[in-house]
Amino acid sequence: MGYTEVYEAWQKDPEAFWMDAAQAIDWDRPPSKALFDENAPMYEWFSDGMVNACWNAVDRHVEAGRGHQTAVIYDSPVTHTKREIPYFELRNRVANLAGALRAKGVEKGDRVIIYMPMVPEALEAMLACARLGAVHSVVFGGFAAHELAVRIDDAKPKCIIAASCGIEPGRIVHYKPLLDGAIEQASHKPDFCVIFQREQEVAHLEEGRDYNWHGFQYGVQPADCVPVEGNHPAYILYTSGTTGQPKGVVRSTGGHLVALHWTMKNVYNVKPGEVFWAASDVGWVVGHSFICYGPLVHGNTTVVFEGKPVGTPDAGTFWRVIEEHKVKSFFTAPTAFRAVKREDPKGELVREYDLSNLSAVFLAGERADPDTITWAQDQLGVPVIDHWWQTELGYPAVCNPVGIELLPVKLGSPSVPLPGYAMKILDDDGNELPKGELGAVVTPLPLPPGTLQTLWNAEDRFRKSYLEHFPGYYETGDAGYLDDDGYLYIMARTDDVINVAGHRLSTGAMEEVLAAHPDVAECAVIGVADALKGQLPLGFLCLNAGSEKAEADVIRECVAMVRDQIGPVAAFKLACVVDRLPKTRSGKILRATMVKIADGEPFKIPATIDDPAILDEIADALRTLGFAAAD
Ligand code: COA
Ligand code: AMP
Repeated sequence: MGYTEVYEAWQKDPEAFWMDAAQAIDWDRPPSKALFDENAPMYEWFSDGMVNACWNAVDRHVEAGRGHQTAVIYDSPVTHTKREIPYFELRNRVANLAGALRAKGVEKGDRVIIYMPMVPEALEAMLACARLGAVHSVVFGGFAAHELAVRIDDAKPKCIIAASCGIEPGRIVHYKPLLDGAIEQASHKPDFCVIFQREQEVAHLEEGRDYNWHGFQYGVQPADCVPVEGNHPAYILYTSGTTGQPKGVVRSTGGHLVALHWTMKNVYNVKPGEVFWAASDVGWVVGHSFICYGPLVHGNTTVVFEGKPVGTPDAGTFWRVIEEHKVKSFFTAPTAFRAVKREDPKGELVREYDLSNLSAVFLAGERADPDTITWAQDQLGVPVIDHWWQTELGYPAVCNPVGIELLPVKLGSPSVPLPGYAMKILDDDGNELPKGELGAVVTPLPLPPGTLQTLWNAEDRFRKSYLEHFPGYYETGDAGYLDDDGYLYIMARTDDVINVAGHRLSTGAMEEVLAAHPDVAECAVIGVADALKGQLPLGFLCLNAGSEKAEADVIRECVAMVRDQIGPVAAFKLACVVDRLPKTRSGKILRATMVKIADGEPFKIPATIDDPAILDEIADALRTLGFAAAD
């Protein structure tokens, strides 16, 4: 079947389509139906089935006689380590860790925060939670103690599993002091912590609270898989919203397994046994879906890569890993290719490696600019597929479905909706816009299996953020348009979320930090275009009347505060002091206009602006920062 037939099969009978896909999963009790719409618009999938995610990702492959196949390849240029873990060994390691967690009281439904770098033990921690039906919440290592504390207070974990350190090129990231600081700041305290001590740094353990990863597992009874209901939360993953309080996306178990299994073949075009590599981090949704669960549930070999596209040791690292581990399908962010292209524009390093196993490359996380796609296609000689999705959705929603059929590639578009989605473009009043016109990107409810079920502790916020503005639809938060062939083009966000090096960040969260500086009266953070990272945050600071501190000192302190409170991943390094911020007469800061000025794009002075002269002051401030600001 081609794309049209598959898509029509879903349109004609979604229930049958997803029940058919569900057969690829081992159920302890098969679901009686796919969609549970009794509480619409709070839809659920496979709720009355009983299933275990770890069984499906690990044990069943061992039972099927494939225990000696490599499950995880750990390739760490920053520690000069390589290791392969076969499925049977992964099963034993995960069962032991789960047994040790259970012995300390972790049960189905308990939350466990995982704060670890790109080591196989991070996947083992996730899978051990899944084995017990505990709900994990992985926090990206580039977030600082305060962000970790916010997540501890929201998720209220019984246990935190962390590593002693992470390794960034040229520096050790001391995780343990960050963890200790976060626990001190948080009102909720975990019962205990498990620390994976790395040889690069052995952390101090607090007596009675912290256990060593190895000693803690000694002599325990390995745990079996605990079957959970299809709608039981598999994990909470926090992502940036408009405010400093991140949104805890809740993924339920049954739909997640069905959708990821379907995607591995139909999107990524891999067969069980083949090697799939997503060069991302377990702290992001890509890491959850396509480093951990997707490839393992489908019986692939997954690569855990601890390194960067450049500098570890050079821009040929990606190609070395692809050759050495015979990667069939590779997923990364456009920013990573831009970094490689900048160091090796002619692809000289590409030609040093045998990439004959590679069949396709997938890009997501931010807009894939045509230059980057063309460069990658020319260098690699395989289809380079832009695809669109979000933390909330959990797996590709709009894509060129290579595993079904390679459709014509249109540069600048992630292509067409997959089964489960029917993207529409609406104006602010909810009217559907004609082809080619820019508006809010939405898709009709119910969302397909595997997408977010709700927000943790925040059902009202879930409804407000995604369901209420356009009743009957899920609001993506992106703006875009459709062309005559139904290809989607994503142009911008409709909220204050920015995308820095493929990392989703909230300008609102940065503003909250800046506003706490004693000399700052008012502030605004916008995302400005950057050739490498796609966007960079830039802060405008208005100082209190009578502030005596030098502007340069306030800026320096503000930059340090964002790094300290949110983390280095915010990449907040640009700020300037201005007298006033441009606002509408009702007091709304005109951030979108400031972005256009900074990016040198033409803009119209908004009719509702309070004082247009302020825009000139903004342009002047931007010029002093080196921007060729638009007038
Ligand atoms: N733990 C601690 N710190 C981290 C971190 C982690 N896991 N990840 C990043 N950081 C730090 C970096 O060291 C850097 O710190 P610095 O300000 O001291 O230099 C800062 O956060 C910003 O990191 P990053 O945005 O990664 O920038 P970079 O300059 O180090 O690297 C790229 C640039 C393009 C090579 C890099 O951003 C990259 O590989 N991007 C791909 C992103 C990706 O895969 N996203 C997943 C979505 S699919
Ligand atoms: P995240 O939740 O971190 O995956 O970020 C999701 C957001 O990243 C989307 O809402 C888009 O704004 C952006 N995004 C992801 N993939 C793409 C893509 N292929 N093209 C354009 N924007 C993308």
